Amino acid sequence: MRVVTVVGNRPQFVKAAAVSRRLREHHDELLVHTGQHYDDDMSRVFFEELALPRADRELGVGSASAPVQTGRMLESLDQVLADARPDLVIVYGDTNSTLAGALAGAQVRAPVAHVEAGMRSFDWSMPEELNRVLADHASALLLCSTETAARNLRSEGITAGVHIVGDAMADVLLEMTPVAKERSNALKREGVEPGRYLLVTAHRAGNVDDPARLGALVDLLEAVPSPVVFPVHPRTRARLDAAGLTARLEANKGIRLSSPVGYLDLVALAASARAILTDSGGLQKEAYLLGVPCITLRDTTEWVETVESGWNTLVDLSADAALAALEREPPAERPELYGGGHAGERICEEIDAFACERSG
Ligand code: UD1
Repeated sequence: MRVVTVVGNRPQFVKAAAVSRRLREHHDELLVHTGQHYDDDMSRVFFEELALPRADRELGVGSASAPVQTGRMLESLDQVLADARPDLVIVYGDTNSTLAGALAGAQVRAPVAHVEAGMRSFDWSMPEELNRVLADHASALLLCSTETAARNLRSEGITAGVHIVGDAMADVLLEMTPVAKERSNALKREGVEPGRYLLVTAHRAGNVDDPARLGALVDLLEAVPSPVVFPVHPRTRARLDAAGLTARLEANKGIRLSSPVGYLDLVALAASARAILTDSGGLQKEAYLLGVPCITLRDTTEWVETVESGWNTLVDLSADAALAALEREPPAERPELYGGGHAGERICEEIDAFACERSG
């Protein structure tokens, strides 16, 4: 089949790394990078470290409000899809690039495969929730990471084309953790010892775009035990600068602010942290897979199994709740939740089966 894969930002480069090379063994793939993330440390480093095939098309949409950014993507994708005439469009996750890819595919009547379908936070104030739901309802092939995701789809009346395949990010993490431990010198660079620091990431619009919540995040970072390693996403950096909070964090000797780090450094820092504090979806899973307690800086999560198993605690931006969570002993058990590193294989099997059905 002719397949167009649409990626555009950091977590999608990781997920596509589990699928693209394998997909190309049986199908022609055109990899399209929307340009939602464009800085070297948000984009190029992931292609290099994960040996993701070079993008065949770069749309270069850059930053803008969600509707404008999505609109620009749609306009460019319309042309790409008209030229490529794909038999399948693949999208990943829940970002503006996901929605644009799904909508553009559906509009030219190309079937859409959504990897990480069915995730729900049930929080409609998150732009990602809108992106997820709309992408799922535009998709023909719904490739779910978990049973919960398939159940969520059923409750919205989606039953055809749903397959539980495991999680593509888990594949990459399991493969790359030994490589990260060997190659990364991030702990040395940050001056931290294994098991004796907290890793923090935060970039959700709901946490960083509102100055009061951004202030609460900074209060929380100052309240938790140091050292704290905090690679700062560009959105967060811009909001901290605008609120005059960067200098306050920089003045705190226990908090090490840095630019966003590449995949191998992130995995090395995550694997050896005492705990991870984050509002990222991906990092909640990665913490679980690495056996590191996660403290999620949100009041909802799509990755409910990590909470039910006792490895993840939702604290929103409460410093007291974060401190209490840090005191808790990690559970003894850590059941297999995300497919054990075989999601890429299963995704490609489902795509092969879909190709057979269409040609038969
Ligand atoms: C997006 C996704 C989010 C995902 C995250 C991963 C949406 C709605 N959100 O959020 O679900 O978890 O990516 O990182 O799609 N910027 C740069 N350089 C870059 C990229 C962005 O400076 O390479 C700046 C932009 O100027 C903008 C801000 O970061 O001000 C936000 O970027 P954007 O891609 O719109 O959303 P994210 O917050 O990254």
